[in-house]
Amino acid sequence: MKKALVIGGAGFIGSHLVDALVEKGYSVYVLDNLSNGKRELVNKKATLQVGDIRNPKDLAEAFKNIGEGAYVFHLACLPRVQFSIDFPRESHDANINGTLNVFLAARDAKAKRVVYSASSSAYGDQDALPLVETMKPNPKSPYGLQKHVGELYAKIASEVYGLETISLRYFNVFGPRQDPDGSYAQAIPKFLKQAKEGKPITITGDGEQTRDCTHVRDVVRANILAAESPKVGKGEVINIGGGKSYSVNQMAKLIGGKISYIPARLEPKATLADIRLAKKLLGWEPQMTLEEGIAELKKLYGI
Ligand SMILES: NC(=O)c1ccc[n+]([C@@H]2O[C@H](COP(=O)([O-])OP(=O)(O)OC[C@H]3O[C@@H](n4cnc5c(N)ncnc54)[C@H](O)[C@@H]3O)[C@@H](O)[C@H]2O)c1
Repeated sequence: MKKALVIGGAGFIGSHLVDALVEKGYSVYVLDNLSNGKRELVNKKATLQVGDIRNPKDLAEAFKNIGEGAYVFHLACLPRVQFSIDFPRESHDANINGTLNVFLAARDAKAKRVVYSASSSAYGDQDALPLVETMKPNPKSPYGLQKHVGELYAKIASEVYGLETISLRYFNVFGPRQDPDGSYAQAIPKFLKQAKEGKPITITGDGEQTRDCTHVRDVVRANILAAESPKVGKGEVINIGGGKSYSVNQMAKLIGGKISYIPARLEPKATLADIRLAKKLLGWEPQMTLEEGIAELKKLYGI
């Protein structure tokens, strides 16, 4: 039986990944400190250890319990650009120090491979679109920098310590279970909740900023391919995006309802993924469009 350790497996993307791995017959162990994740999102067939990647002892316990040769999916993180601007030390500690701890623990435990959840925020603003992996990273926030450092550590872990690693740079992931609440909520779940409650959809800036959006089930498929593909494992960085971009105004229109504009915040003007490398190395292509994904979510929200 294949074994998987999903770090951050009680969160939005991680919990979907755990479901898919269980479905594929993996024995799944989850490590999560439940700072943002929820116990009830963790599949009942998986084992949950409540622990923290900032604490090497918690990681050692998780790796001891899962044993040698496990596939490791590292999603644990304090996400959101604005959160990292407000709390740079806290996010640095989890996202950089915690991530280094994960790679070292995986090396010590002779893990099969670590799939690191990276982010398109490493690109920051670039002169041209689409965003290609060969472009020089230009992060514009502590979060973007921290996620990029994680990729660099993944590559070093492979080159220096011989640990198989790969980094997947996700572009705006959306789908069921995404938290619509709080000041750091992402646009799509926040808009859905506002529409459901009959409130105006609040768009930052003029809404003409564009985003490449990726459905969570496509991201999950990419993770499993990245873990199993014989063509990768040397710290490659690969975009995982929908390959199409939409303005925030277009997203709001797909959801429907009144709109209200609020002050702009620090965010890139445009993101659009070049997804040729994912196809070449992983045989991966997105299967869900934003229109299909939002239609599914509107049903779930009862809109
Ligand atoms: N959602 C997106 O649009 C998006 C885009 C790009 C990259 N990513 C990356 O994907 C990963 C998962 O994101 P998500 O949207 O599912 O976020 P999430 O907050 O729902 O999941 C992260 C999980 O990590 C856990 N966690 C946080 N700090 C921890 C710590 N110190 N020790 C153990 N567990 C800890 C949280 O409790 C949570 O369950 C993150 O690494 C994020 O940077 C997400």
